[in-house]
Amino acid sequence: MSARAKSQLTDLRSDTVTKPSAAMREAMAQAPVGDDVYGEDPEINALEAEVAQLLGFEAGLFVPSGTLGNQLGLRLLVQPGEELVCDTMAHIARAELGAAAALSGITFRTWRATRGLIDLEAIRELIAPSAGPYLVSTTAIALENTHNFGGGTVQPLELVAQVVELARANGLALHLDGARLWNAHVASGRPLRELTAGFDTVSVCLSKGLGAPVGSVLVASTERIARARVWRKRYGAGMRQAGILAAAGRYALAHNVARLADDHDRAQRLAKALGADPDLTPSNILVLDVEDAAAVAGAASEQGVLVSALGPRFLRLVTHLDVDDDDIDHAIDVLRPLVLR
Ligand SMILES: Cc1ncc(COP(=O)(O)O)c(C=O)c1O
Repeated sequence: MSARAKSQLTDLRSDTVTKPSAAMREAMAQAPVGDDVYGEDPEINALEAEVAQLLGFEAGLFVPSGTLGNQLGLRLLVQPGEELVCDTMAHIARAELGAAAALSGITFRTWRATRGLIDLEAIRELIAPSAGPYLVSTTAIALENTHNFGGGTVQPLELVAQVVELARANGLALHLDGARLWNAHVASGRPLRELTAGFDTVSVCLSKGLGAPVGSVLVASTERIARARVWRKRYGAGMRQAGILAAAGRYALAHNVARLADDHDRAQRLAKALGADPDLTPSNILVLDVEDAAAVAGAASEQGVLVSALGPRFLRLVTHLDVDDDDIDHAIDVLRPLVLR
């Protein structure tokens, strides 16, 4: 391990590893609070209204995690025994521990996506609206933007619009896992409201690239959010004076959205240096296909660079608020000999 690495790790495992800055902690300390189960926390109310407005929805609900934001969205749209269509690598299918089945009795059918990209024809083939008494009826489609395991893929807006049209034509609801919608917004230059147009429920995270320690917001119609509020409490996630957390989220929205462009530039540098196609790294997530992902991650970790091995050949590197240009230099020095064999 180099002298630098001994004192300072470069942690590229995820953008969830960021720590709240001094200024964010100060905003948290100053936040007015109240009992949010009674709807009396001013900071949470302000955050919910702000995110709903930004995304073009009537109402928002602050929840502790992206998983809960997604699961409440799905709960609202799909009844037990009904079917949701999404891609095989979607976070809701792969990384929420079967929550949709365990909590809401939802079955999934999935399309195999290239880099997490929407495949309109595959979706068209999969959906079975009002399938009668023998087949499972599809009730909703879920998309993810950007797509985490796909490599930070930004969904092309025209394809999203085509899925919206398909869903509408077939009476299906639409959920968007927008854990990193902010990255899609910055990478595409398109207003957030354009990216959410046509969806019934959208979950966005404050604790990924935006750097807040905790929190996501589910947005939908006023009626749906009222129902989600009941389910949030039922799941045990009704919080009390959590305005100190909402304040971190509001600070993040005010200060940490535009700077995501720096994370994207750094992911480009990594992609170029590590032999990947930079065009396939449109935001802050670099996915590498290597011979032995666990071996690379292990060897890098010994030299102070942390990356995620998410499959036998699947290595993921994520840039974020707490890595700077020096960290990227460090990561390149360590990873180049390990991945460019
Ligand atoms: C695309 C996506 N959706 C949802 C989540 C869930 O967020 P949380 O870890 O806050 O439950 C994640 C987490 O990394 C994610 O990447």
